[in-house]
Amino acid sequence: MKFENTGRKALALAVLLALPGLASAQQMVNAEEYRAALQDKFANPGTMVADRGEELLKTPRGPKNASLEKCDFGLGAGKLEGAYAQLPRYFKDSNKVEDLESRLVTCMVNLQGFSSAEVLKKVFGDHTKNESNTDIEALAMYVASKSDGVKIDPPLQHAREKEALKVGEALFSTRHGPMDFSCATCHAQDGKRIRLQELGNYAGNKANAQATMKTWPTYRVSHGMVRTLQSRMWDCNWQMRLPDLAYGSPGSVALISFLSHQAKGAALDLPGMKR
Ligand code: HEC
Repeated sequence: MKFENTGRKALALAVLLALPGLASAQQMVNAEEYRAALQDKFANPGTMVADRGEELLKTPRGPKNASLEKCDFGLGAGKLEGAYAQLPRYFKDSNKVEDLESRLVTCMVNLQGFSSAEVLKKVFGDHTKNESNTDIEALAMYVASKSDGVKIDPPLQHAREKEALKVGEALFSTRHGPMDFSCATCHAQDGKRIRLQELGNYAGNKANAQATMKTWPTYRVSHGMVRTLQSRMWDCNWQMRLPDLAYGSPGSVALISFLSHQAKGAALDLPGMKR
């Protein structure tokens, strides 16, 4: 039954992907089916990327020939279950608030001996060039998946965590750049959309923020690969014609802090899948 359903949904999905020029009414109907189809975990290729991430995490690599099994994501060295749900958070060793991806960079540098330049050389796979996901994307998907079903609950005790939330909120709502856009220009009204894409109101609509954040990292069907929050932040920043948002930079982490606090309490549903 489950599989019959999957087949039908997969067909609807394939038709939708193959025929981008459908009439708009038809497109609206299919978009509903399409969204329903995306909920089906049986068909989520993100699981395979997470599996590759697991292998990578356990394999000794880098100048120190060490694995990442001892990486502390906030709940203790090597404790992965539920750790992603409590990120971003303050880490003593780096003296920074880190999200999942900046934490991975820290561990690859500290435990494996990679230089950060080396790690940051290529962080996102390029779907327009038919590339596959990078190592750090696969690692992020694996570690995040270990929080599947756990409620988003980033800590807000340390002064630096409070600061990150405040900075994130300010970055979100302040207009800047050549287009004079803020994140809020596109993401602070209910029901706002660009063509078929719902933009989501993350400034006051908790349900919207929760629905969005519980499925990151995500398998993005239209890219044919896994996408992470750092890539989403980079992309939206680019849409605002701002200078490149550096991977794991304090600004990017602050934005993710803000979004995570808006979504607090939502049970993570990972790997996610989005259009
Ligand atoms: C010009 C309009 C615009 C601006 C400004 C903008 N975004 Fe977006 N945002 C989009 C679009 C379009 C999407 C993609 C929606 C889709 O593909 O379904 C998106 C997607 C997202 C998502 C993922 C939504 C999901 O369904 O998972 C997040 C999170 C997000 N934006 C956050 C931000 C943040 C943070 C900023 C400010 C740095 C920002 N956006 C600025 C248009 C914008």
